[in-house]
Amino acid sequence: MEILRHVVLLVHLTGFAILFGAWFVEAVARRYQATRLMDLGVLVAGVAGLALAAPWGLDHDLNYVKIGIKLVVLIVIGALVGISTSRARKGTPLPSWVFWLIGGLTLLNAGLAVIWR
Ligand code: HEM
Repeated sequence: MEILRHVVLLVHLTGFAILFGAWFVEAVARRYQATRLMDLGVLVAGVAGLALAAPWGLDHDLNYVKIGIKLVVLIVIGALVGISTSRARKGTPLPSWVFWLIGGLTLLNAGLAVIWR
């Protein structure tokens, strides 16, 4: 059970890597808009995160305040990425601060995960 939980954690981290990696590529290329790959990262991190939020294969209690905040932050990231990709498709990109907010909130969630125990 513990090994399975670690596998789900690896999937969760892969989702984070896809989301943040896709965002970083756009930042370096100075395109400042969300992409379909970021949608995928949100989906993978979100589904695996929800699976990890259930108390299975654990020898300690979960911090549900932290998990609740992470869920709210992920919903906001998902909304911003979704709005941004659909607006980009229509040719009316969102202001660049929305792009920076997506990266900032992603790092915030990773920071909450590793710093707040
Ligand atoms: C962009 C969104 C997210 C990012 C960047 C992120 C990042 C991370 C990282 C880096 C870890 C590893 C922490 C460690 O093992 O030291 C982790 C673990 C975890 N995440 Fe997420 N996460 C996100 C969203 C979510 C969501 C939406 C949930 C649940 C609703 C969630 C629930 C968990 C749980 C339960 C763990 C297991 C470790 C613990 O007890 O905190 N995550 N996350």
